[in-house]
Amino acid sequence: MMKEIQMCLCITFLFAFGIVYELSQEADCFFFCKPISRHFLRPKDVVSQGKSIIFLETTDRLQPSPLVLCSVESAARVYPDKPIIFFMKGLNNNTLPDIKSSYPSLFFLPTMKNVFLFPLQMDILFQDTPLLPWFLQVNTTKEKYWPYIISDAIRLAVVWKYGGIYMDTDVISIKPIPVANFLAAQSSQFSSNGVFGFQHHHWFLWDCMKDFVQNYNGDIWGNQGPDLVTRILKKLCNLTDFEKVEDHICSNISFLHPQRFYPIPYEAWTKYYEVWTSKPEFNHSYAVHLWNFMNQKEKKNVTVGSNTLVENLFRTYCPSTYRSLVQAAEDMVASK
Ligand SMILES: *[C@@H]1O[C@H](CO)[C@@H](O)[C@H](O)[C@H]1NC(C)=O
Ligand SMILES: *[C@@H]1O[C@H](CO)[C@@H](O)[C@H](O)[C@H]1NC(C)=O
Ligand SMILES: *[C@@H]1O[C@H](CO)[C@@H](O)[C@H](O)[C@H]1NC(C)=O
Ligand SMILES: *[C@@H]1O[C@H](CO)[C@@H](O)[C@H](O)[C@H]1NC(C)=O
Ligand SMILES: *[C@@H]1O[C@H](CO)[C@@H](O)[C@H](O)[C@H]1NC(C)=O
Ligand SMILES: *[C@@H]1O[C@H](CO)[C@@H](O)[C@H](O)[C@H]1NC(C)=O
Repeated sequence: MMKEIQMCLCITFLFAFGIVYELSQEADCFFFCKPISRHFLRPKDVVSQGKSIIFLETTDRLQPSPLVLCSVESAARVYPDKPIIFFMKGLNNNTLPDIKSSYPSLFFLPTMKNVFLFPLQMDILFQDTPLLPWFLQVNTTKEKYWPYIISDAIRLAVVWKYGGIYMDTDVISIKPIPVANFLAAQSSQFSSNGVFGFQHHHWFLWDCMKDFVQNYNGDIWGNQGPDLVTRILKKLCNLTDFEKVEDHICSNISFLHPQRFYPIPYEAWTKYYEVWTSKPEFNHSYAVHLWNFMNQKEKKNVTVGSNTLVENLFRTYCPSTYRSLVQAAEDMVASK
């Protein structure tokens, strides 16, 4: 048991070391070059005209997994001219000074020049939205799906306030999404809320936030999440079956074909962790959603040298994250 713990610590250390090593080799700007250093920059100062790509960490975790790092890095590469904003609940005036020493994998993110870390302050975020009264009175200890519910709420408020594209941290970006106001179809009759984009103060999100509170039912998983956006979309549109790989448009909102983000449906999620005889090209996709929630029990990881689909996605779309994994694996072999 002790041995295992030692091994685990060792791997963590090596992974961290790999990243810091890489930074000292090529990065000319460390975390503290960013204006975030002394005081927090306000999102308003960075977010311009609803162009940002937004990620969330709604728990206090400050050690992003390789998949989270890949998700942010791939977005930073696909959208070099847009700010990539990662709101993290655990980031505050107390944790900030320790980022560099205590959270080296997190420290790696803002070395990319368009990536910004922001503290997630929910009370401020929900101000002036229909969600505030709900948030102030909800008893979180009674909510069995609380982490999902709060994440569903925050993503609506944050995109409503700042505009842009929200992405789950298990989405690997491949090429730019060409539309501003969109929802991602999981099937012809069902929209996800794992990726969506809207302009600043878009009425659709306002309607979603109102419905969130009015039809609130914390006992049904997804009632405030994918079911909610599907419900609101269905009030606007008669959803017909997709033909070929064409998107639908309704009330100026694009309902993007399942191939755009879900080329592998959730029933088949393990395919990402398998070796493919011929590599899929994902020509019709803007990003791939890895269904990390399906992976929570099996905890499949990206293994260097495995030649799995996920390893190849990392190698192609988040090469810096991938290199740090390779480095960690090499260091582990060397230390044996
Ligand atoms: C950090 O401290 C400043 C000054 O006390 C305060 O205005 C700000 O809200 C704090 N930020 C966070 C994220 O706690
Ligand atoms: C929240 O719910 C728990 C469990 O039912 C209860 O013990 C607690 O007093 C409640 N808190 C508030 C503020 O109502
Ligand atoms: C959807 O179809 C029904 C029945 O064909 C029609 O009455 C309704 O107006 C349509 N709704 C929209 C939003 O197009
Ligand atoms: C769709 O967008 C166009 C151009 O921006 C606008 O003129 C039109 O009113 C919009 N239609 C709806 C239904 O929102
Ligand atoms: C996918 O795109 C690549 C590059 O644009 C092209 O060479 C390839 O033929 C396409 N594959 C399919 C199946 O359309
Ligand atoms: C993946 O990594 C986690 C955490 O490092 C570990 O607990 C788990 O056993 C690994 N899973 C596999 C299949 O190697």
